[in-house]
Amino acid sequence: MKLALISRNKETNERIRGLVESLDGQASLHTVAGGLEQAASVAAKERPDVMLLEGMRHDEHELLLIEPLTLSHPRMAVVLLSPNHSPEYLRMAMRIGLREILPTPVAKEGLLETLGRIHQRLTAGAPRSSGRILCFVGCKGGSGVTFLATNLGYALASRGQKKVALIDLNTQFGDAAIHITDRKPVATLADVCREVHRLDGAFLTSSMLQVLPNFHVLAAPEEPEQAMHLRADQIDAVLCTAAAHYDLVVVDAGRSLNELTVRAMDHAETVFAVLQQSLPFMRDAQRLLRALNALGYGKDKVKLIINRFDRKGLVGPDEVAGSLKHEVDRTIPNSYGAVADSINQGVPILKLDARDPVARSLEDMAGALAGVRSREHGGWLRNLWTAR
Ligand SMILES: Nc1ncnc2c1ncn2[C@@H]1O[C@H](COP(=O)(O)OP(=O)(O)OP(=O)(O)O)[C@@H](O)[C@H]1O
Ligand SMILES: [Mg+2]
Repeated sequence: MKLALISRNKETNERIRGLVESLDGQASLHTVAGGLEQAASVAAKERPDVMLLEGMRHDEHELLLIEPLTLSHPRMAVVLLSPNHSPEYLRMAMRIGLREILPTPVAKEGLLETLGRIHQRLTAGAPRSSGRILCFVGCKGGSGVTFLATNLGYALASRGQKKVALIDLNTQFGDAAIHITDRKPVATLADVCREVHRLDGAFLTSSMLQVLPNFHVLAAPEEPEQAMHLRADQIDAVLCTAAAHYDLVVVDAGRSLNELTVRAMDHAETVFAVLQQSLPFMRDAQRLLRALNALGYGKDKVKLIINRFDRKGLVGPDEVAGSLKHEVDRTIPNSYGAVADSINQGVPILKLDARDPVARSLEDMAGALAGVRSREHGGWLRNLWTAR
């Protein structure tokens, strides 16, 4: 792996050089004594896999200056070295495609974990033997992410052959479980993460609601404050275990890009971005697609879904595709009454009214997904976890 380090700090320079030398030739390092202003030329000339950039101001203004770099080099991972780890700063970093901020002074363990994750992402084209992860994210609140993720999960499982898991990553106010069952969860994502040291397939399954014998749901934390303790490495472990024990793992990522949801998107085979036909949705879709692009997800990974589609709507799929410069993968019709009944009763729409156009559309989507053979890719998530 090729690394470039841009820093004015001699100590950082020496420390990272020492760490890279200890990797026995697995990585090469090009160092530049300078700052952000050198980043573009170093990226163009050296074409590193990873750029380690020591920040100066550690504020949001500086992050905005980094955005052109992540946008023009989506395959290059930019790692900012900074002591600022405030939630607001991290959230903003994700939005500009900067997924890794390493605390300074850089510790060996932190650097190795970060490089390991980047390496695995870069080699995600290699064979994998675990379940496929499909992640749903909303361009805006109320896009229909939870309805689609839960009901697609049900539709995939109803076909009978596959074991399907749904994981609710709306860590604040998640409501996926109540979309499809009236039963109360025995445990939530927060409980599983708290006991991550004893996580295995049996523990995960016993923490989930059984909607069908082959469709299980891991509910979001009951209380928003429990979400504050969730860590990205715990989400890795949950997804790794789920992918090892289920054929398909559907993730409801809500509408936020944060350390946890971006981790799920990294592991996902497909990220479904959900929007509706109105200008506010289009505007937010543009921002989301820009962020997903800066995070390094290609057009083959990010698929647009227009939910509540109406032929007479303000903008059609061609206009959406033209203005967002991104093909529309599929449309899901609008069916207000049937969808509202399904959500209010906590019964999947396919079970409530299989002939409703929305139910048929989801069944069609499930059939198409089941027909696509998984593009097998790296068991790195499992390796990362089992290596601990
Ligand atoms: N295809 C559809 N046809 C009609 N109504 C729909 C459809 N999809 C979703 N809805 C309606 O949109 C509302 C929002 O859906 P949902 O809760 O799934 O959105 P969300 O993106 O998960 O929202 P949030 O951002 O709050 O998590 C639902 O109450 C439902 O009534
Ligand atoms: Mg939701």
